Amino acid sequence: MDTIHIHGGQRLSGRIPISGAKNAALTLLPCALLTDEELILGNLPRLADVDTFGHLLNQLGVTTSVAGARGNEFGRRMTLSAARITSTVAPYDIVRKMRASILVLGPLLARSGEATVSLPGGCAIGTRPVDLHLKALEALGAEIEMTAGYVKARAPDGGLTGGQISFPIVSVGATENALMAAVLAKGRSEIVNAAREPEIVDLCRLLVAMGASIEGIGTDHLVIEGRDRLHGARYDVMPDRIEAGSYACAAAITGGEIDLMGAKAAEMPAILHALRDAGVAVTEHDRGIRVAADGRLKPLTLSTAPHPAFPTDMQAQFMAMLCLGDGASLLTETIFENRYMHVPELVRMGADVEITGRSAVVRGVDQLVGAPVMATDLRASMSLVLAGLAARGETVVSRVYHLDRGYERLEEKLSAVGAAIERRSDG
Ligand code: EPU
Repeated sequence: MDTIHIHGGQRLSGRIPISGAKNAALTLLPCALLTDEELILGNLPRLADVDTFGHLLNQLGVTTSVAGARGNEFGRRMTLSAARITSTVAPYDIVRKMRASILVLGPLLARSGEATVSLPGGCAIGTRPVDLHLKALEALGAEIEMTAGYVKARAPDGGLTGGQISFPIVSVGATENALMAAVLAKGRSEIVNAAREPEIVDLCRLLVAMGASIEGIGTDHLVIEGRDRLHGARYDVMPDRIEAGSYACAAAITGGEIDLMGAKAAEMPAILHALRDAGVAVTEHDRGIRVAADGRLKPLTLSTAPHPAFPTDMQAQFMAMLCLGDGASLLTETIFENRYMHVPELVRMGADVEITGRSAVVRGVDQLVGAPVMATDLRASMSLVLAGLAARGETVVSRVYHLDRGYERLEEKLSAVGAAIERRSDG
């Protein structure tokens, strides 16, 4: 299995191209199921999860072809065609590898009138139920049955009908499934307390490009007029705000200066705000965002919450950075109940972090020390890479497959800005 070896202590400087957003790609891909015409998605990141989603769609009868980026360019273009859906079953084998597979439920149901999707089960960061996805589809007339670990959903004769969906808590995935179903339902649907993450805006824009009618895009109240059919479209995936934020932390933790090429400041207000509060200089320019740090970072008090507040997907990376802050920081995780799996590993590198319930007190130390480490999820793994970039000596990160799910060519991008980082294949 591959490992990533980092010799810490290099100041990073230069440009990092930001890839297409993983979490946008994973909700744009299932939109191919909504039309019998071609969907062409550009700027798709080269990530294990994108490949897995492609395989899932293939099993449902969607044909996919990929045009690779040339030379050193990043991003790929995929042409998807669901002229005929040949299966409405998303099997356990794929769903267990990638929870986002649940996002075929809404579009399959809307287009084919039925869908059977394995229940994803819990994962490293929490129990992550899908009850809100199911309630939303029921509000559109679906009948749902649970059998042998599968969700079986069926639309009434004549298809889904518009309905009122009111979420008790904000859910990115449930909002996405609700939207993808409502665009083909008969009549008007309303989604109240919708998630308004930039990835949801990206989804809405693609759906509109396919002929959908959606009002309130970017707000927590979406109104959808269902259409009889949607047509094909060409669309480019938005830049990955979490990848950009992660590399901003890399600049900050090494006292470096990085241009995040293609990143959009408007899509990451809370991340940039927190960086500035920590004493990092953040400047927007016409091709991206420059972040520059000099000296010790100031401690922060941060609480994760749905967009536009500070994202849970940046909590681990900020924690790594604040381990070297000038004082005590307080981080509170409100979205997932078990998203501190990186803490014991950071502590093994010399960090001083104490967890009480949903909060973590991070007392800044003078130095981190390299160690062999591993994490159980994507963002936690990235926090260990960040700590390794600043630590004295060598850090060896194992279970690299977590990183490969969400960071395109991580070691290539980091070595291009001066990091001593390499991937080794040990067999
Ligand atoms: N929730 C329920 N019931 C549901 C759905 C969600 O109780 O039916 C709860 C969850 O357990 C959680 C909260 O609602 O406590 C929010 O979860 P949400 O549904 O918003 O998360 P998600 O759609 O499963 C996406 C991202 C995550 C990101 C979260 C929060 C994708 C593929 N995944 O997950 O990304 O952390 O939104 O922003 O878009 C990552 O990229 O590392 C990652 C985990």
